[in-house]
Amino acid sequence: MQPLLSAKSGATLARFGPMGGFAHFTGVNSKAMYSRNAAALGRLTVYLADLALKNGEELVSHAEDHEGTRRDFLYYATGGAGVVVTGAAVWPLINQMNPTADVQALSSIRVDVSGMEPGTQITVKWLGKPVFIRRRTPEDIAAADDVDISRLPDRLARNANIPANADASDANRTLDEGQEWLVQVGVCTHLGCVPLNDAGEYGGWFCPCHGSHYDKSGRIRRGPAPENLPVPTAEFVDDTTIQLG
Ligand code: FES
Repeated sequence: MQPLLSAKSGATLARFGPMGGFAHFTGVNSKAMYSRNAAALGRLTVYLADLALKNGEELVSHAEDHEGTRRDFLYYATGGAGVVVTGAAVWPLINQMNPTADVQALSSIRVDVSGMEPGTQITVKWLGKPVFIRRRTPEDIAAADDVDISRLPDRLARNANIPANADASDANRTLDEGQEWLVQVGVCTHLGCVPLNDAGEYGGWFCPCHGSHYDKSGRIRRGPAPENLPVPTAEFVDDTTIQLG
């Protein structure tokens, strides 16, 4: 599991209140500790997202501005560029960063993924939600393929790009034939927290709010979340650009 914060962002931690009980998210917890942690994480996430806006202008462009890049859609980035953020966040708190009406109205954005190495992930904000874009390693793909779909809590692909009744095989959830690229909405299907990447029992994503474990294909494996992380409408429009919407 990645560290909660980078060294840089960790230095800012003291500004956001007590978080020492974070580990308790995964076990028996008191309501008071949970509330303090959730509030602190929310404040921290808003601060770091703002920091990312200042540092990461070159990551994302939208469909109507292909010549340049704009920071409007950058939410935060992990594993490659910009600010490292791996702390949990409650989506309603983040949602205070709602884009203006004109930005929200844009239904399509393009994301330059040319700088992503295998094993890295970026997160972009699209239609007001975080979207995880993951470039997976051969080991990730092999682990995601080696799953008995009949034993999954949710056996549907939940992929907006294929028929609704398609099964949850890894091939049905990934964007390319090589199953290297996985794009999914980064909102827990239980109550809407943002899961942590490279975490949990299955090495995919883990939602610490109530303990939901997603595998390397974003499929729910254990915990209260009822469905796999949804795959939004997405496609490669050239070798290094993914269009959402
Ligand atoms: Fe993710 Fe409850 S919101 S487990």
